[in-house]
Parts: sequence; C-alpha cells; structure tokens
Amino acid sequence: MSTEAVGHPYPRLEGREKVTGTARYAVEYPVDGVTYGWAVPSAVVRGRITRVDTTQALASPGVLAVLHHGNAPRIAPGQQPELWLLQEPVAHYRGQYVAVVVATSLEAAREGARLVHIDYDTGPHSTVLTDDHPGLYKPDHVNPSYPTDTAEGDFDAGYAAAPVRVDATYRTPAYHNNPMEPHATTAQWRDGRLLVHDSNQGASSVQATLAELFELPPESVRVVARHVGGGFGSKGYAKAAVVLAALAARHVDRPVKLALTRQQLFGPIGYRTPTIQRVRLAADTDGRLTAICHDAISQTSTIHEFTEQTAVYTRSMYAAPHRRTTHRVVRLDVPTPFWMRAPGECPGAYALESAMDELAVAAGIDPVELRIRNDTDVDPDQGQPFTSRNLVACLREGAQRFGWAGRDPSPRARREGRWLIGTGVAGSSYPARARPCSATATARPDGSFLVRVNATDIGTGARTAMWQVAADALGVPPERVEIHIGDSALPSAPVAGGSMGTASWSWAVMRAAQALREKLRDGGPPTEEVTAEADTAEEVGGQPTRPRYAYGAQFVEVRVDADTGEVRLNRMLGVFAAGRVVNPTTARSQLIGGMTMGLSMALHEEGLLDERYGDWVNHDLATYHITGCADVESIEAYWLDERDDELNPAGVKGIGEIGIVGAAAAVANAVHHATGVRIRELPIRLDKLVGVSGLA
Ligand code: MOS
Repeated sequence: MSTEAVGHPYPRLEGREKVTGTARYAVEYPVDGVTYGWAVPSAVVRGRITRVDTTQALASPGVLAVLHHGNAPRIAPGQQPELWLLQEPVAHYRGQYVAVVVATSLEAAREGARLVHIDYDTGPHSTVLTDDHPGLYKPDHVNPSYPTDTAEGDFDAGYAAAPVRVDATYRTPAYHNNPMEPHATTAQWRDGRLLVHDSNQGASSVQATLAELFELPPESVRVVARHVGGGFGSKGYAKAAVVLAALAARHVDRPVKLALTRQQLFGPIGYRTPTIQRVRLAADTDGRLTAICHDAISQTSTIHEFTEQTAVYTRSMYAAPHRRTTHRVVRLDVPTPFWMRAPGECPGAYALESAMDELAVAAGIDPVELRIRNDTDVDPDQGQPFTSRNLVACLREGAQRFGWAGRDPSPRARREGRWLIGTGVAGSSYPARARPCSATATARPDGSFLVRVNATDIGTGARTAMWQVAADALGVPPERVEIHIGDSALPSAPVAGGSMGTASWSWAVMRAAQALREKLRDGGPPTEEVTAEADTAEEVGGQPTRPRYAYGAQFVEVRVDADTGEVRLNRMLGVFAAGRVVNPTTARSQLIGGMTMGLSMALHEEGLLDERYGDWVNHDLATYHITGCADVESIEAYWLDERDDELNPAGVKGIGEIGIVGAAAAVANAVHHATGVRIRELPIRLDKLVGVSGLA
C-alpha cells in the first residue's frame, strides 16, 4: 500500500502555468482568421423592437456583420428561455442581448456596437421587489425541486403560547457574481460541427444545451473548458456568451471570440435575487425552540421561473415541534436570477442565524449555547437521522479557538478608544450531494496511468484533487498519474456546482480505477494500453436518502468606529465539518474564499436598482463595492477530522459553499454586540449605524 495522496497539501498541478500566464482561458487560444463579437444590450426595460438600423455600424471600418432577430440563425427554444437570443423582436428586460456586432478587431466590434440604432415600443414596467407586490404568487416548487411550503405542528398556537419570542424581517439586496474571468467563448464551426472554448462550470452540460439549441447530435458539439477563472454558480449552465458566439460564428462563417465586459455581467448572467424574509422564533425560558417560521419572498423574471430556496435552510437546521416555511415569488421585468454561491442557504442563513442571535438576547442565553441546546440528530424536515451532524463540535471547537468563553453578552460592553468591539457567532450548513458521473482509467506499458473525467476546475483545485483521488484509487504514487479534465470529449460529468463536484467525480474515478485494477489482476504494467470505464448512474441513483449535510460555525470580532459607524473585522474564524478533506491547501482557500464573500455581503455588496430605468446603477467594480484586505485583519478556517462512510466512496461532503453560509450573520451579530444596533437590511453600511443611534 502506497502512502495516501489524499489529505496531502499538494500545490495545484497547473499553478506554474497560471502564474506564468501560459494557462489558456476561453478567449486566449490562438485561432486563425478569428473575429470578435460585441454584445449589444437592450436599452429599454421591456419593449418591442420596431426597427434595427445597422447602416452606420456596417459602414464602420472592420465591421463584418450585425446579428439581430431579423437575420440571426434560428435556434430551438430549449429549456432555458434566457438563451433563446436574437430570435424575436422583443426585449424582456434592460440589458438583455438584442444584437451582436462582429468585426475584425475587438475595438472595431465595440465601435460598431455603439453605432447600432434600435427603436422600441415600450410600456410600463415593474422591477422592484416589495413585500406587498400584487404579483406575488406561490410557485409549484422552489429550487432545485423542494416543496414550496412546509408545515408541522401548529406554528401559530406554539408561537402564541411561548414565553420568549422574536419576530423580525430581514432584507438582502441583489448580489452580482463577478468571476475574474468573465463569461467568454471562442466559437468555431467546421463541417457542421461546433467547437467552443468556453468559460463554464460544466462542459458536459454546456455541450448538451448547445446540441439542443442548434439541433445537433451531442457528438457534433465539443466544449473545452480547460481553465476557468471563477464562476460561483453563474457559469453553472450555458449562458448568453456561448450562444451569441456560436450564432455569430455560424453567421459570418469564421471563428468568433466573444467576452462579456465587466459591466455586462451585472444582470444578464444571473444574479442572486433580493430577498425579504420574516423569521419568527419562539422558545421556552431555557431557550429551547418551540416554534420556527420562515417566510421568504424573492423575484424572478417574466421569461423563466427561478425561485431561490431561501427558507430551506431553516427546515433542517434546528429542531422545534411547531414549524412552518413558505416561499413566494413575483415575476418582474428583470433578468432571471440565478445561482450564486450557496443559493438559498446563503441568504436564508443570514436571516435565521440573525434571528437566533436576537433570540439569544431575548432569552438571556449565550448564542453558542443556544445553538447547542437546539441541536438535533434527526432531520426535523425528513424525520430521519443525519448521516453525520457535527454542528455542536464545530461550535465548541470554534468557541475554544476563538476565545469565546467569558464573553460579556451586554452590547457596547467593550470599547478601545473610539472603537466599539463586539463578537458574534452563527451556525452554517450545506447539503452534501452527488450526481452520476463517468470516468475512465488507463494503464500504459511504461507504468503510468491516465485518468479521464470531464470535471471542471473553476479555480478551486479540482484537477489536483482528482489526481490525488485517482492515485490512491490506483494504488500508485501520484507522479505516475496523468489527469485530464475540462473537455466534453472526456467521459461525461456533472457541473462544478452545488458543492458536489468532488463527491461526484471522485466516485466515478474510484470506480474506474477499481475496474482497471481488476483487469490488471496479475500486476505489473500491461504490454499495451488497458482501459477501464465506470459510470456511477446506477449506484448514485440507488443511494439511500438519509439526510446529509456539512456543518460549520462562524465566529467574528468586529470593531465599529463610534463616530463614523465604520465597521472593520479584527478577525473571522470558521470551523467546518465537511467529511474528508482531499487537499488541505486548496480546501483552506475554498473555505476562506466563501467566508470572504460572506464578509463582502455583510459590509458592501448591494445591487442598487433604479426603478425608472429598470437597471442596476452600479454595474462595475468601482461602484458595486466588494470587500478588500483592509476590511479584515485575519481570516482562519479549520475543519474537524470527520469520517462519514455513508456519503460516497471518497467520504467528502463538498466545501465550495459552506464557507459563505452564516458568515454575514456572524458579522451582523458581532455588530449588534459592539453597538447595540441590529441591522436587518444588508449591507451594514456606516450610514445605517450612525443614522440609528449616534453611537458615540
Ligand atoms: Mo454553486 S452557486 O452551485 O456554483
């Protein structure tokens, strides 16, 4: 038995390529005869296009074509209405792509786009989510396929009878995904076949979507995504860039590179919906929850129903005999919201974990202790025991590492000069899922191995993790293993999303390696290549359905300037229980990345929509603020050595999203402890703090 590669902090396999700039991203491949596409967004919120005047654009130097609904190649409707682009003379929201200019240079395409004139017939629009919007309705389900509402016991009676109660409404604004690499594609047609180098979270899924839209057999479409500069959910499906590039390349019969601009990422690629969440909690005088209710409101577009599963977190997190959750959604004249790191759990946990803090104050119980008292081994929603649940262990270990003991619970108890100091805590959880996947393993005569699986590395270290898993499964040192990912020509695999990439891919890789070892029974390298394949569809599909989650505890110490309301973090510390950790280096980055995004949400991020124009005013990184190093002095992530053999062969739970869950609540709770001010509407801007009470 060789030394295990899993658990060892290997540096990323492609690290050198990335830091030296030789790793190629979607629009960085040299292509002969390439042209450049520039997307033209709708200038109105909703309207009928009455005229497209391309005269000036076509006369501009270098411009080859202007595609619009009148001349673009036809595509099938498909399952994602957002992708049925340039097919009808209609704009469903401001920013929706209504034309593409193709030119011999990027600059010429951009100038051409400026010269396209489009007239619209417009009507009234509605773009702002309110809790009394007349269009609010109850959808059939929430994402991905959860029941819309749940109820057990009698919430109203339980709530009315309880001695300690909290009734609070929390609001989160729209959040915009900003991967470093924008949505970008190089598209080429050859003999009726489509090749795209595309920035996405799953090349197999994009391949299937393109095949559907362009009515091609899947094998006529190849999607390469060798390196991807972030996604956070926004690249979880094919998006506009790849469709526009493919349409344009077919139209001009030349390769087309099309990258969205930073400004164009704000909206049409999907964003996290704003939410309005009312949480009611009731407890006995010992802080044991008796009633929990979470009512969530969010928005979707007029063309596609996407309902964030905001209250789903609350269904399984803490126990109580009387429970209710509801979701309502409204169709607005806006782009369709989409996945953003921990969709559902992230905004939902902000509300519930804030309300838990309010309950701790109301009951006079330490907030760590309150969560421990309301722990449960049985999923309150499913009524079955969790495969493993180490929330309490995370809380205890976090409290110990953070130095929580002896905390004076009174707000404004600590002051250092002009800084008010406070600490806060929040729980965290995220489902541990897996999807069917296929992979192959090949033994070569020289004693090396090749493992192929269409996993995607969106910057997480997935390639390295799969290489480690493969080496252990083959029983050889990783140096003898070559891993190929990021190409739809490889065995089909699910997306890098939902924190289920590693669980899904490693399952297939381990099964392929096992099958190969069976074939090579007599040992020693074969005289010619031997390949074994695996497909986990049956095994994963037949999984028992006991509830399975990763858990965490987030701790934060803030300081708030008593004069200006400025919030800074002295430290942020998370402890997570997420099964087996494949690579401590990349895992730590993932967890810290999630926590950083939660901090960003707590203090800065806010899509500000101007109702008159139905568009976000702040659509660049100068005006849409994100967190920076100056906001926090130290972020630490730890994990428990958790073994859970019921999950999947690798024993992993996924770590992509758990780091963000609860992080914003921990910040908000610490701000309350520091100042006595409870901010229930993110972000926690200084004007909200100063405005409330005059801190000094
Ligand atoms: Mo994640 S929001 O499922 O990529």
